[in-house]
Amino acid sequence: MDEIRLNGRSFRKYIDEHEIEKAVERLADTINRDLAGEDEVVFIGILNGSFLFAADLIRRINLNARISFLKLASYEGTSSSGAIRDLIGWNEVVQDKCVVVVEDIVDTGNTLELVVGGLQVRKARKIKVATLLFKPGAYKKSTIPDYVGFEIPNDFVVGYGLDYDGFGRNIPAIYTIVN
Ligand code: IMP
Repeated sequence: MDEIRLNGRSFRKYIDEHEIEKAVERLADTINRDLAGEDEVVFIGILNGSFLFAADLIRRINLNARISFLKLASYEGTSSSGAIRDLIGWNEVVQDKCVVVVEDIVDTGNTLELVVGGLQVRKARKIKVATLLFKPGAYKKSTIPDYVGFEIPNDFVVGYGLDYDGFGRNIPAIYTIVN
């Protein structure tokens, strides 16, 4: 379907399943190559949005890997509130480890900053960031993610894990809002 409706708003197809698959493959290949020398790599997905991307990415990782998730809700409606509400699930020991943060999308960078700050406090040795989507136009921080699937304009997107008011995460392609 080229156009969908979620909660009264229209979205049109923007990145199809095949393009997503190719991007995930490319990112996994790069990570496998980059981190080939590491004894162990800890992948940390940021929930809820990253669950599909993390699942698809980790399947293609051939390193000695652990995977864990942090849950963080910082978003309401179609614009980032900027207010981080909560961050739970620091179960994995990251001290002296090589860590790859797995994000669905980096928008303002507030979420990422909080996660990376948490990893620094817990003394991770190496911190890499993989994100499927990156909005450079919205980004307010200086550290650029290491592995980026797609750079996209500053428009609201849904699908492949990303939601609009809780809906749309199950849609396999990525859709952009129609204004
Ligand atoms: P940031 O903290 O502003 O970088 O936003 C990161 C989080 O906001 C992501 O993990 C998403 O959950 C959410 N988010 C940002 N942009 C979008 C979007 O276009 N669609 C859906 N969720 C988004």
